[in-house]
Amino acid sequence: MRTDLAPTIHRRDYQAFPYLLPRTQLFFDLDAERTRVHAILEFERVGDAALPLVLNGEQLTLESLLLNGQALTTNDYQLTTETLTLNPDSARFTLEITAFCGPQANTALMGLYVSGNSLFTQCEAEGFRRITWFPDRPDVMSRYTVTLRADKSRYPVLLSNGNLAGTRDLPDGRHEAVWEDPFPKPSYLFALVAGTFDCRETTVQTRSGRSALLQIYSDPGTRPKTAWALECLKRSVAWDETRFGLELDLDRFMIVAARDFNMGAMENKGLNVFNSSYILADPDSATDASYEAIESVIGHEYFHNWTGNRVTCRDWFQLSLKEGLTVFRDQEFSADMMAHGLGPHEAASARAVKRIDDVAMLRVAQFPEDAGPMAHPIRPESYQEIGNFYTATIYEKGAEVIRMMHTLLGEETFQAGIQEYFRRHDGQAVTCDDFVNAMESAWQARQPERNLKVFRHWYEQAGTPLVQVHLNYDAAQQRCTITLSQSNPPVGIERQQQGLHKPALHIPVAIGMLDKQGQTLAVPGADSTTGTVMLELTQTEQSWVFEHVPTAPVLSLLRGFSAPVRIAYEQADAELALLASHDTDPFARWEAGQALAARQLLLLAAQHDAAQPAADITLLKHTWQTLIADASLTPAYLARVLSLPPEKIVMADMLPMNPAAVAQARLQLRQQLGEQLAQEWLHIYHAHQHADAGAYSPDAVSAGRRALKNLALSYLAAAQHPQALTLAQTQYEQSDNLTDRMAGLAALMQWKDPSPGQAALTGFYDSWQGDPLIVDRWFALQASSPATQVQDVRRLMQHPAFTLRTPNRARAVVFQFCQNNLLNVHNPQGYAFWAEQVVTLDAINPEIAARLARAFDNWAQYAPDLRDAVRQALESIRDHAPLSKNVAEIVNKALQ
Ligand code: ARG
Ligand code: ZN
Repeated sequence: MRTDLAPTIHRRDYQAFPYLLPRTQLFFDLDAERTRVHAILEFERVGDAALPLVLNGEQLTLESLLLNGQALTTNDYQLTTETLTLNPDSARFTLEITAFCGPQANTALMGLYVSGNSLFTQCEAEGFRRITWFPDRPDVMSRYTVTLRADKSRYPVLLSNGNLAGTRDLPDGRHEAVWEDPFPKPSYLFALVAGTFDCRETTVQTRSGRSALLQIYSDPGTRPKTAWALECLKRSVAWDETRFGLELDLDRFMIVAARDFNMGAMENKGLNVFNSSYILADPDSATDASYEAIESVIGHEYFHNWTGNRVTCRDWFQLSLKEGLTVFRDQEFSADMMAHGLGPHEAASARAVKRIDDVAMLRVAQFPEDAGPMAHPIRPESYQEIGNFYTATIYEKGAEVIRMMHTLLGEETFQAGIQEYFRRHDGQAVTCDDFVNAMESAWQARQPERNLKVFRHWYEQAGTPLVQVHLNYDAAQQRCTITLSQSNPPVGIERQQQGLHKPALHIPVAIGMLDKQGQTLAVPGADSTTGTVMLELTQTEQSWVFEHVPTAPVLSLLRGFSAPVRIAYEQADAELALLASHDTDPFARWEAGQALAARQLLLLAAQHDAAQPAADITLLKHTWQTLIADASLTPAYLARVLSLPPEKIVMADMLPMNPAAVAQARLQLRQQLGEQLAQEWLHIYHAHQHADAGAYSPDAVSAGRRALKNLALSYLAAAQHPQALTLAQTQYEQSDNLTDRMAGLAALMQWKDPSPGQAALTGFYDSWQGDPLIVDRWFALQASSPATQVQDVRRLMQHPAFTLRTPNRARAVVFQFCQNNLLNVHNPQGYAFWAEQVVTLDAINPEIAARLARAFDNWAQYAPDLRDAVRQALESIRDHAPLSKNVAEIVNKALQ
């Protein structure tokens, strides 16, 4: 058993750094094997006390250390594997550090590393300390000048943050570039890139008339695939000006695509580095979903320039200050782009689709997290490894908390709050409290009686609150009383806190009422067009009385998903069917249909266990027929409505959980619906077969038509419909875009006879093996297939194109199998495979390994035999030495 646990860092222990660092000069002699970094750091003591100067540094080799030009000896400083400590005796001094790091050996991809033939950096959160000894914390902000020197033929492009101050050639075929960043920044926003790249660029005028150069750098030969990325960047610049009044503050904004990247992308000041999967796109290599994701991630990183860089985090407990806010901003950006140019009805539908997708993602990724061993508030109280806290809670739940403020304050006041936030804090490293204070003051300037006092508790509590709804209708008085109560029992490490009290939260609950015919009931106090009333729940229990309600209402609850909570309310199947057919709120309408389908899946999953006859799906089928016949629904919306809820959402209502049974039930229900609605699917397929009039376009309307058509195809294939094989084959062979080609391939793989699917898979690889992003998809499709067992995924890993070292490839195979192949991973062999991969990956890339280690976070709720098997697998990981801090934290929390 492991005893050398990493120390836990607590939010309450924050202390300001005792020195300022106004200027940082860095000189790099870049070399893949051994890079020399010379740093000149000018420190100023903050207080009077001569406190020691403690710098962070890891995996570095020290060459020399000079204090005010004097060489120091080993008696003058203390060096550990993680720190360098000095005791300077003057208030101002210059420290010169020369050290070496090894980019080629850096498989963790934090700090300076090699990808392809190029050099990249990733410094957030704590990667800069792998480049030089430094106060590697976000509240120490410095102005950087960076000199890069390298072999000119191998590394013709040399980039860093800010403006290019000069270039020159050096002897021996080397060259040099000097970059100056005019903005003080924390070390996590530092970046450098060196290598050979294609570049696509354009110049834009910002609102105040400044011109700025926008550039996208990518691997040689990939320039044809960066047109969309540059277009997205232009849209991002324009949108932040018009919607948030925030202008680009740089003369030059660069994005570089890297094949090896731990996450999605990184907002380094003026030099964003991206996972190439969020940059490269053309119709043959990117699906509709990737075009959309590229727009969203480019927006996200660009928006960080204000929310993250101009105002940054005081410490890493405040991570959601920048991430939650920036996710909210990218969600709004995407919604505005999708609605752009559409009429009011279509625009509202497009926004609803975006909301549905975001909420589905929250429920799949964040709700389970918030119910498991890693549950934490959006502002955590403690951590062992900050790399483990780039979570769905910090990002997605954080965005929901910002969204609730937006809902409460309204767009205009919210924007006034944003302005106030920048007026107060531009150039500073601040806390979540500072943000909420700015918002509250903007609110109170307009409505003095309002405040965010209760709302602030969202920052302190983990867990998904449960809101219980009780309806009382008094027919004689025509009075309707709605009572809401909230609860949020301790989760994760909260359960170890003695006497923990979790106060009531401020929860906006948007509701509407329908009569038994599905007509909107005009409720006093409701919005006149939507019939929506906002109930602000701020206490443990509250009631609202509505007079003159002519009939017992059917409740439409949590419209637009107005808060990240679960609702508990007894609703008959018939009521759900009525809401699914008539609710005027598109989110709540979708929700009702999903709830109905989820009930069916839970029934099927239970029967599957007991081997009982198939459940009756008449009501679901009729509801779907009504929806299909509703001409007011857009294809994109219909595609969401007619999709079965993801297993991970359905499982949340199953105790004990049996993931494979839910996956099996989902396949079964898909087949039944495929058979019973075959005529409808065929009709839909043919109506949307040609989503684009001309050439492929990734716009949301065309993408929506493709989504609906391909959904129909998958139902037909699930039903083994006699026409499906030809449709799939033809579509696979003849489509001019990856979305349709992949959907054709996936449909062929659903065929009971494996030969058409196998033949197509082989042909697909032969055609596209030169494109790593397409090869990732080819792997992912197989790893997540119901036909792929543990031994098959092992075989897939023997493929010459497989490697664990490229995170995208590891994700395509190992993660797809462990996280998304619910049918085949939940058995002792599957868990053993998982444990083995976690341990192997940990020696290569701890951050990625720690993510994989979370695949079965909610194992404590599994059926007993599965639970025992996961525990064994977890223990086998825990007992493996040495483990990274990252994996150790995850596994120890899971076993607590
Ligand atoms: N700040 C980046 C983003 O939100 C994420 C970087 C996280 N990096 C990491 N290695 N954990 O886009
Ligand atoms: Zn971010």
